[in-house]
Amino acid sequence: MRFQVRTATASRQRAACIVLPAFSRGALPQATRDADRAAKGFIRSVIASGDFSGEAGATLLLPKVPGLACPRVLLVGLGERAKYDRKACRKAMRSAFAAITRTRAGNVVSYLGTELPRNADAYRCARIAIETWYEASYRFLEMKTRDRNKGKVRQTAIGLAATRGNAAEVRRGIAHGLAVGNAVWLARDLGNLPPNRCTPTYLMQQARAVAGRFRRLQVQVLSEPQMRRLGMGSLLSVTAGSRQPARFIILRYRSGRKARSPVVLVGKGITFDTGGISLKPGPQMDEMKYDMSGAGAVLAVMQAVAELGLPIDVVGLMPACENMPGGNATRPGDIVRSMSGQTVEILNTDAEGRLILCDALNYGLRFKPVAMIDIATLTGACVVALGKLRSGLMSNSDDLSKTLLEAGELADDPAWRLPLDEEYMDQLKSPFADVANIGGRDAGTITAAAFLSRFVGETAWAHLDIAGTAWVTSPQKGSTGRPVPLLVEYLLNQ
Ligand code: BES
Ligand code: MN
Ligand code: ZN
Repeated sequence: MRFQVRTATASRQRAACIVLPAFSRGALPQATRDADRAAKGFIRSVIASGDFSGEAGATLLLPKVPGLACPRVLLVGLGERAKYDRKACRKAMRSAFAAITRTRAGNVVSYLGTELPRNADAYRCARIAIETWYEASYRFLEMKTRDRNKGKVRQTAIGLAATRGNAAEVRRGIAHGLAVGNAVWLARDLGNLPPNRCTPTYLMQQARAVAGRFRRLQVQVLSEPQMRRLGMGSLLSVTAGSRQPARFIILRYRSGRKARSPVVLVGKGITFDTGGISLKPGPQMDEMKYDMSGAGAVLAVMQAVAELGLPIDVVGLMPACENMPGGNATRPGDIVRSMSGQTVEILNTDAEGRLILCDALNYGLRFKPVAMIDIATLTGACVVALGKLRSGLMSNSDDLSKTLLEAGELADDPAWRLPLDEEYMDQLKSPFADVANIGGRDAGTITAAAFLSRFVGETAWAHLDIAGTAWVTSPQKGSTGRPVPLLVEYLLNQ
């Protein structure tokens, strides 16, 4: 796929399809007025017929509009002019590209970005265009034998209209959009792959493949004996019932010769979560293949950082293993020693995410991070609290929280902060060990974060619970690639 900046006016544009914006109640942006003039009022007459409302996301495909150099026009609604904002822009672009992928037009030029929303510039509009294009054209057909070509996308080039004045801005938006789009695709592919394919070893191979493409990105993988020598008894207790070897994947991105304090990202990489001896019920257990989405997001973000050549140092940690029952599996009541030295009483083997994360967070401290962020499909309670719209955010730092929340809004990948008062720690008291791995039904998302907070020392740390946002079950089942856009936005602004 080629993405390019196009400066010709709509009426002169040579393409298989041009995409033109229109507000509701017949108000037309400049680019569409220009095309309508060349078409001798044809577009206005179509709108007057009432077949096209102009509400945000409405589309109408017009073949053979007279007076234009291209054979198709896709009219796209932006909604009310006074209310046109970034969100409406994303909505319009999303449905525009969904409609485009259903056509056979090979070469498409969009004029949607020529009309700026009140809270976005040309750079942002270009990024939204590329990101929504990636979203609309994503297909996961790898495991299909016969339908591999069904619904295949026919487009080969997407052009974004720009003026000579803002072409550089649009070009930068395209570059950033590409990095985000590719990263989201990688995260979605990893999430969608079945758990017999996407094993800890597969994640390791993918990490090596990504790192192999960038000079500044290095990968190192710890084996189980190495983890044992480091004292990662908590992580190892989760993999005890599995035949698949656990892998602790370490990615390092260095911006230059001078080492700086890095941002450390830690992603939960449970490639399948049966619950272990505290076995999960059957219905929807297949969805626990997505339990590695945090690790997938970390690999994807590292790829985006390397692709963009960002001027910051970033470390990505992906503790990866399976949570299975078995003769050697951890029992409820077992007590293990974490790398930090703290002992943990495992009262429920299904609260395994925090058990691998606590050792990974502790390992992360050795990089002396400026900030440490973990990403995890950690609690069903988070889905109850926030649904599938916003990721849960918990942090020991108001500054870091604020920055991450703002990045989420800007990227349209929103999060919401939950409290983390130290009193929540009382729910994790154990009569036998330093801490228990569950804190009862109340505030389940927060007590999970409280558990993690014991392993980050004084480091500025944030925890993103993506249990609700990492995948969708309707209308189309599959991985979303969230919170990759939030994290890339955050790192772009560092
Ligand atoms: N991976 C799950 C969390 C999860 C469940 C995410 C359903 C999305 C949908 C996690 O490992 C888990 O099982 N958590 C338990 C914790 C409980 C035992 C304290 C949960 O949420 O039930
Ligand atoms: Mn679990
Ligand atoms: Zn889990």
